[in-house]
Amino acid sequence: TWTTGNVIEEQVALIREQVGDKRAICGLSGGVDSAVAAALVQRAIGDQLTCVYVDHGLMRKGETEQVQKDFVAATGARLVVVDAEKRFLDALAGVSDPETKRKIIGREFIRVFEQAQLEILQEDGPEVAFLVQGTLYPDVVESGGGTGTANIKSHHNVGGLPDDIEFELVEPLRQLFKDEVRMVGQELGLPEEIVQRQPFPGPGLGIRIVGEVTKERLDLLRDADAIAREELSAAGLDREIWQCPVVLLADVRSVGVQGDGRTYGHPIVLRPVSSEDAMTADWTRMPYEVLAKISTRITNEVKDVNRVVLDVTSKPPGTIEWE
Ligand code: XMP
Repeated sequence: TWTTGNVIEEQVALIREQVGDKRAICGLSGGVDSAVAAALVQRAIGDQLTCVYVDHGLMRKGETEQVQKDFVAATGARLVVVDAEKRFLDALAGVSDPETKRKIIGREFIRVFEQAQLEILQEDGPEVAFLVQGTLYPDVVESGGGTGTANIKSHHNVGGLPDDIEFELVEPLRQLFKDEVRMVGQELGLPEEIVQRQPFPGPGLGIRIVGEVTKERLDLLRDADAIAREELSAAGLDREIWQCPVVLLADVRSVGVQGDGRTYGHPIVLRPVSSEDAMTADWTRMPYEVLAKISTRITNEVKDVNRVVLDVTSKPPGTIEWE
């Protein structure tokens, strides 16, 4: 019979057999899949696993701390956090085009992650031969079912290492669907905020600022997003809503009247959607009172925001994200 307990026991045995006394690396994204995969592997091989978290400075409020503190407290995993905020912001300076932002963020991410891998490879200890990935069953089906290996490309190498290091993949979630992964994560004692996390794009808030990405704008968006998330959760809407991008229209200004006078600030867009798989989506018909509360709080509490608007477009024609 299928129980989370059985899945964990079986995977722990398989991981131990696969990895033996070598070492493994796992990149954490802040998302459910990588966190559960890492927690399973940690349970199997303890400190033979090193987790790497690249802080690109584009996460929502509290998410980096969730990985850095709560994930580590729950699992006891050995974690390396790379603070790369400045590097990402420098690379993004002056860039407004969404696909260019994605390319830059993806490129910098790989470079920073590979650099961290190389530093782990250079530590004393058993050979680092494995890379853990949170591949799920639907990913396996979509990509044709092969298992694989991953390379560190030679042009990123620092001195004294082989030209091309190949890792064997450890993919303990390959037979699981998302809801099963959440159950396994819960059984492993991971924090609720990680296990129940809604989809969030890899490029993070970088693609939720329409316009150039700056630290100031990110902080503003983080505040608005935190308010929206807090109120949606308080209203019990986390399950009904698939995800709710909160978007800053940084290139748009709107006139408002706040306090003693006119303001010339920015609109924030709320984009709550209902969906099964993100391929299609509909805008969520959510209670006006909740929208009113979010709007009032954001315009009162977030500097430079004087307007909150609701996106009432389904997908298609609109994508879920604004960029
Ligand atoms: P769209 O905006 O295409 O989004 O309707 C569909 C789903 O994918 C997420 N998304 C991304 N995820 N990198 C990611 O890892 C990206 O560049 C990206 N763009 C969109 C989006 O949040 C939604 O869940």
